[in-house]
Amino acid sequence: MLNESIHYGKVLMVSPEHFEVVYAINPHMTNEKGELNTVDRDLAAAQWRNLKTIFEQTGLNVEIIPGAKNLPDMVFAANQSFMFKNNSTGKFEVLISNMRSEFRKPETLYFYNWYKDHGYKVYTSEEIFRDHPRLCFEGNGDIIPHADFSFYWGGIGPRTDAKVYDILSKKLNLTFMTLDLIHPDFYHLDTCFLVLNNQTCAYVAEAFDSVGLKHINAKFKNLIRIEQSEAKKYFAGNAFCPDGKNVIMHPGASHFKQALIKNNFNVFETDTSEYMKSGGSVFCMKMALV
Ligand code: ARG
Repeated sequence: MLNESIHYGKVLMVSPEHFEVVYAINPHMTNEKGELNTVDRDLAAAQWRNLKTIFEQTGLNVEIIPGAKNLPDMVFAANQSFMFKNNSTGKFEVLISNMRSEFRKPETLYFYNWYKDHGYKVYTSEEIFRDHPRLCFEGNGDIIPHADFSFYWGGIGPRTDAKVYDILSKKLNLTFMTLDLIHPDFYHLDTCFLVLNNQTCAYVAEAFDSVGLKHINAKFKNLIRIEQSEAKKYFAGNAFCPDGKNVIMHPGASHFKQALIKNNFNVFETDTSEYMKSGGSVFCMKMALV
């Protein structure tokens, strides 16, 4: 069986020197008492370097945007933009997000500048959403390309508005399969849905309604169900598969790991505990580029 899937060649990461938890905008950022989590900065820096090394070991070139002061979440580089394939030219282009939280909105400028400097065609959300400036969406956190970029999975939930997808289909001539996110722990699609290749997807069933589950079932021949507890405790749903065969993830999700191995994936584990205190792990710590 042909496991067609795009091989990502590069990932864009943001260096972690300003990473911290100083506000709470998702349920993972506080402890049981409702207090903000405390990040071990040295450990966070070491974990980021290890993740970068694993990306390199799996054949990815790593590009880096330096972290910026007072933007503690900028290190979650999946959220500020998303990459799509222009249907007329076949070229890959980029759309910059309109992030939900005021704390995070300024991050997008750094990404815009990076893409411009590196020769990408970039669209701003101001130009695409001119008539709907209040609409929000958080890039690759909620918009996940199908493995061959023939269409895009679009999460609708706390961070991304449903209407975004009507506008993007019209203005960018893209096709979306939308999925409503119904569980507060899974606030971005990338926390509970993982495209492994054109036939295979891993997903957390509790994060979706029956319509969403039907769409997922219809588009993939091979489904790996991630246990809700493994997704919550180890961010199993936030793993990353750059090439249809290697999967990079935080350790601990033993059932998910076994299922991946049974399905012939190579598993690479790397600790992201400090970033999970902010609600993110492997997938959100990079923007994958073709
Ligand atoms: N603290 C960040 C936020 O709430 C974490 C983002 C994690 N990214 C992701 N794609 N799930 O925005």
